[in-house]
Amino acid sequence: MATAVYVDLCRFFAIAAFGRGTISFTRISGRLLRKALYMNETVSSDCLDVIFRNARTHTAWLDKPLEDSLLRQVYDLARLGPTSANMCPMRIVFVRSREAKERLKPALAPGNVDKTMKAPATAIIGMDVHFFEKLPMLFPHADAKSWFKDMPEDQLLTHALRNSSLQGAYFIIAARAVGLDCGPMSGFDNAKVDETFFKGTTVKSNFLCNLGYGDASKLYPRSPRLEFDEACKVV
Ligand SMILES: Cc1cc2nc3c(=O)[nH]c(=O)nc-3n(C[C@H](O)[C@H](O)[C@H](O)COP(=O)(O)O)c2cc1C
Repeated sequence: MATAVYVDLCRFFAIAAFGRGTISFTRISGRLLRKALYMNETVSSDCLDVIFRNARTHTAWLDKPLEDSLLRQVYDLARLGPTSANMCPMRIVFVRSREAKERLKPALAPGNVDKTMKAPATAIIGMDVHFFEKLPMLFPHADAKSWFKDMPEDQLLTHALRNSSLQGAYFIIAARAVGLDCGPMSGFDNAKVDETFFKGTTVKSNFLCNLGYGDASKLYPRSPRLEFDEACKVV
């Protein structure tokens, strides 16, 4: 608050000293200065509505095309979220074509077939269990590969699952932030999806996420959430 007043006072004196020609200059520089000073600024309430309060899990989709460029935007945002040692284990297959959807279909739980076949895209959120191979590039300031490369597979799986699930959550938030709706699902046969989409690799499926523009008229009312005191303790 005090800084905001300071910035405005500087603008006032610059205009008084150098004339009205400085108005646009001081307006722009004031804006940049404010931006630099308020790195911890909160997002607007409207943004919170888009990302959380009004965002729902969708199962019915509007007939509105979803551009591939938007999928790239979502990934480019989601990849910035933190992971252990910056391991970034998430790998994604965007199932878009009819042919690819047909290959996914036999792995889906019956209740997930219709919504998935009709979604403009289905992201298979996978995880590379041998994520350590990319650590020399991802974590260049230490030999992080040596921390993981000899670990038993079950421990690697724990790391991959934890961090790809976090990245999957960043992915959902990023998708909402660029105006998309999501329908995450764990009702599918992981082994079938791995056989179909990740055969011969060290990638395994974590969860699926339908993407598109949701038909809000088909939503049920939001289910309750736990209150702070039911879910949290401050000790
Ligand atoms: C990891 C995960 C797995 C889910 N699996 C399924 C699923 O298999 N089928 C389904 O219809 N919904 C599934 N859901 C949707 C949840 O039931 C839904 O997100 C939750 O009830 C909250 O709904 P809301 O976002 O509309 O408040 C899943 C959600 C998540 C995050």
